[in-house]
Amino acid sequence: MAAGNLKIQVLDSADAVAAAASEFVIKAIAAKPKFVLGLATGSTPEKTYAKMAEANKAKKVSFAKVTTFNLDEYWGLDGDHDQSYRYFMNDRLFNHIDIRPWNTNVLNGAAVNPMLECAAYEQKILACGGVDLWLLGIGANGHIAFNEPGSPVDSRTRLVSLTQSTIDANSDGRFFKVAADVPRCALSAGIGTIRESRQIILLATGAGKADAIKAAVDGPFSPDCPASLLQDHPDCTFFIDKEAAAKLS
Ligand code: GLP
Repeated sequence: MAAGNLKIQVLDSADAVAAAASEFVIKAIAAKPKFVLGLATGSTPEKTYAKMAEANKAKKVSFAKVTTFNLDEYWGLDGDHDQSYRYFMNDRLFNHIDIRPWNTNVLNGAAVNPMLECAAYEQKILACGGVDLWLLGIGANGHIAFNEPGSPVDSRTRLVSLTQSTIDANSDGRFFKVAADVPRCALSAGIGTIRESRQIILLATGAGKADAIKAAVDGPFSPDCPASLLQDHPDCTFFIDKEAAAKLS
């Protein structure tokens, strides 16, 4: 299925989404070992990361020459905090694969100067030759990274405020236990930063993502649904399960 430039792969289950996404990443790295891989956090990619780690253990892929950049980090949490995205990535992926820790980049949520931190991140992406493939999730309100509705198409890495719906979604017990503990701000790659990736894959599973997927695929190209701003990307594939695809026309 294709909507505009988007390629849509509807799969039977969340497991099938993880299998397809990890295969996609593994093939891309096989074709270019010195790969620059963009990564996301959240529940959705966890199974994909487990499959990537399994493949690494089985020597089907090596991350030894791969450099990674993560999308975002909570403002005010340092990497040792168990809800920081640095901690998440170490725990779910980096500690289980042969990647060199110094080649993994996550924005520093405890940086003294957030503007400098964000500008340096953009510079580092450029210095690495740009991102080859960025793996994304999607929020129930259509956000990508922490680019909430209204984020400009040309936005760059910056300090952003989180919406109440995102704070609530991330404090439903999977991550934070109560909304009061969720930082109100984050450092996030911009929509412009993400759109410059040579390839993009977006993963979505479950009925809770059906409205966001509908708006991203069938809706207008609009900052009202940040994921819709991927519609004109030259090489972007959505891997979604049947439940997330349920409202597509
Ligand atoms: C957070 C992250 C996003 C992620 C979204 C959805 O807000 N910043 O990058 O896509 O959550 O997460 P989940 O996969 O847990 O639904």
